[in-house]
Amino acid sequence: MSRFHALIPAAGSGSRMGGIQPKQYLDLGGRPVIAHSFAALSRDTRIDRLVVVLSPGDAWWDGYDWSAWQERLHILRCGGVTRAETVLNGLEAMAGWCAADDWVLVHDAARPCLPAAALGRLLDEVASDAVGGLLAAPLADTLKRADADTRVEATVPRAGLWQAQTPQMFRHGQLRAALRTAGADMTDEASAIEQLGLRPKLVESDSRNLKVTYPQDLRLASLILEHLHD
Ligand code: CTP
Ligand code: MG
Repeated sequence: MSRFHALIPAAGSGSRMGGIQPKQYLDLGGRPVIAHSFAALSRDTRIDRLVVVLSPGDAWWDGYDWSAWQERLHILRCGGVTRAETVLNGLEAMAGWCAADDWVLVHDAARPCLPAAALGRLLDEVASDAVGGLLAAPLADTLKRADADTRVEATVPRAGLWQAQTPQMFRHGQLRAALRTAGADMTDEASAIEQLGLRPKLVESDSRNLKVTYPQDLRLASLILEHLHD
């Protein structure tokens, strides 16, 4: 039986958020953003381990109490310059104890409001899939393509368009091979798998599973968390 591991890239600096503290450590309802991501992932008992990849120079991690996840948490300090590099370094470090066909669910540290039902759906729908898949939300807004003067050049039909989220779930061996050949600037795992000519499965999620990117997202995440388990 293949096992399920979560891999949480947490080596970013949060430049769009501003400030000196990386956004994964910012306070959200009394605990750091990343603690909510751990809580969401560990709520599903099928997930075996939470592997977190920190930047080698991370000076923040040790200042918090992680004992709530002690048994399942595996800490790596091998983050890279880009997200793709961080994920690949994490996968390489896992290779010693992780089987090639074990599932790895890569989930952004900065995505604290992952609904339990969406995570459950991803595991249910992808566990028997040949390729793997990701949570994504069908686009709700009308899309415009801008020209160089920031004027509308075209309206892009939104039918069939989805916003990629995380977790993104692929087999350890295949994802490692895909990321080794893809460039370090891939912004998600699915893109690397697509470059192999494979077609990841889209599993429906919604806008609550937002990535905290800009300062205003933190307040929004706080409001979402208040009602996430209603
Ligand atoms: N990440 C990482 N290693 C990097 C860059 C990003 O592990 N070299 C992680 C972040 O910590 C975050 C996730 O990837 O959990 C999503 O990336 P993003 O939202 O872009 O975070 P940052 O890169 O930290 O933010 P910014 O792009 O605004 O600097
Ligand atoms: Mg980034």
